[in-house]
Amino acid sequence: MTITATGLSACRAGRAILHPTDMQIGPGECVGLVGSSGSGKSTLGHALIDALRAGGQSVAHVPQSPDEALDPLRSMGFHWREAERALSLAPDPDRQGALFEALHIAGGDLGTRPWGWSRGMQQRFVIAMALIGTPDLLVMDEPTSALDPVVAADTMDLLDRYLADRSTALLLITHDLGLAARRVQRLMVMDAGRVVEDAPTAQVLSAPATAAGRSLCAHRNWLELPC
Ligand SMILES: Nc1ncnc2c1ncn2[C@@H]1O[C@H](COP(=O)(O)OP(=O)(O)OP(=O)(O)O)[C@@H](O)[C@H]1O
Ligand SMILES: [Mg+2]
Repeated sequence: MTITATGLSACRAGRAILHPTDMQIGPGECVGLVGSSGSGKSTLGHALIDALRAGGQSVAHVPQSPDEALDPLRSMGFHWREAERALSLAPDPDRQGALFEALHIAGGDLGTRPWGWSRGMQQRFVIAMALIGTPDLLVMDEPTSALDPVVAADTMDLLDRYLADRSTALLLITHDLGLAARRVQRLMVMDAGRVVEDAPTAQVLSAPATAAGRSLCAHRNWLELPC
């Protein structure tokens, strides 16, 4: 299903931090939302999630750090059951097994609390939870910035493989142009609460059309980084 939202906007403390913005993402499309810190990426991501949920579409969110998604006092199994319950889904060991297999966390002990899992495993678990309901859209806000580069790249590779033949679309929010460049077909560049550029990834990288795009490209480090 094509994801469409129009007139997304946000004001905080009397200031417009997101100017009216339209978004369209095709089924299975992977789009990067890039821009400098404070440009409004997370604000747009949240506005999009709220609008889509209000319209009854299924959208999942993966925050920057697993700490934001996992309660340190609850077991991993509890989190999984809660996620199923929130979606009104009955427990399904096959679905769980397939997602654990895909995200390489099959060996994780569901009886332990989050601290019993490495950070990388925790974040893969959070991504697997986000995929339980086969959402139309997965919004990931800096999903690997809390991980070391090798684990980050592995995690994104596993997700890429899982999404490859599925219709779930991906909005990858990041200030890391290197991460986005390798993962998405289209880049949206944000600056001061506006999307100022929206073009195929190769075009933005080779011929950025705006000052914000040129600045991101000038400071990219994507030849050296593994993700
Ligand atoms: N609750 C709030 N009250 C006031 N200003 C806010 C609030 N939330 C966000 N802002 C401001 O809105 C702007 C956009 O913030 P946002 O978090 O969306 O940026 P971002 O592009 O995601 O940045 P980062 O890359 O650092 O995560 C920033 O200038 C921020 O200070
Ligand atoms: Mg942000």
